[in-house]
Amino acid sequence: MRLNSFQGKRLLALARGGDYAHAGETESIDLVWNKLPKDPAQQVLDAGCGRGGTAAYIQRAGWGKVTGIDIEGESIQRARQVYPEITFDVCPVEQADRIGSGKFDIVCCFNSFYAFSDQPAALRAFAHNSKPGTQLAIFDYTDPGTFKESALGQHVELLGWHPLILSTISDLLRETGWTLDTIQDVTIEYIRWYKTFSDRIRELRSKLIEECGIETWEYASNFYDLMHETIKTGHMGGAIVYAKRTANGHE
Ligand SMILES: C[S@@+](CC[C@H](N)C(=O)[O-])C[C@H]1O[C@@H](n2cnc3c(N)ncnc32)[C@H](O)[C@@H]1O
Repeated sequence: MRLNSFQGKRLLALARGGDYAHAGETESIDLVWNKLPKDPAQQVLDAGCGRGGTAAYIQRAGWGKVTGIDIEGESIQRARQVYPEITFDVCPVEQADRIGSGKFDIVCCFNSFYAFSDQPAALRAFAHNSKPGTQLAIFDYTDPGTFKESALGQHVELLGWHPLILSTISDLLRETGWTLDTIQDVTIEYIRWYKTFSDRIRELRSKLIEECGIETWEYASNFYDLMHETIKTGHMGGAIVYAKRTANGHE
């Protein structure tokens, strides 16, 4: 069972009460986006958009005209059906350059960057999609240095996880066409969001078992207890990284 699979995201969406597979649901979307310019006419790329709930929330709130991309076809198919007003594309972020050159005013990654297998390639592709001054917002897990030794870091599903390393993010951004603006630590909020979410999975036990089966529920329940514990004990955190497309940067 992988929680980034279609079935996994379905359980998460049921438990979160919306098509979200990120910490903090709409509270975190507002937190990230309240620092970004609001203009319904601007073009926004939601990279690793999953089931499309975040893209729809952003567009409906007037932040811009959103294009959502994800590597996983079933989620995109569903997103297109549920949110026909949004443009969705099956596209690995590493190949995002194929969806437009210099097109986007804002690029956002909502709890998706950690899952990208080639983060530098993704950032280069986003730079190609952007113009000088385009803003990038990455909302994600952070690795304070001990994540890989933690029980969560050792978890078999997580071998492909790459939480943000804040000490090197500025260099990574510079090498891929971006200039770091600010980093906002949201670890305190992550602890609260994952406590609430673990409790919610238990509260909704009967409904979730009925919809997704006991195996999936048990997996998700244990997994989110471990997530909460890992963040609470300081082996993982959360942050929002804001950057701007560098003038004459890489493409
Ligand atoms: C935890 S989910 C977050 C989904 C969505 N951003 C949200 O907030 O609900 C991470 C998403 O990243 C997608 N993803 C992982 N690697 C990707 C890649 N290389 N290219 C595009 N999407 C990817 C997964 O399929 C998944 O939908």
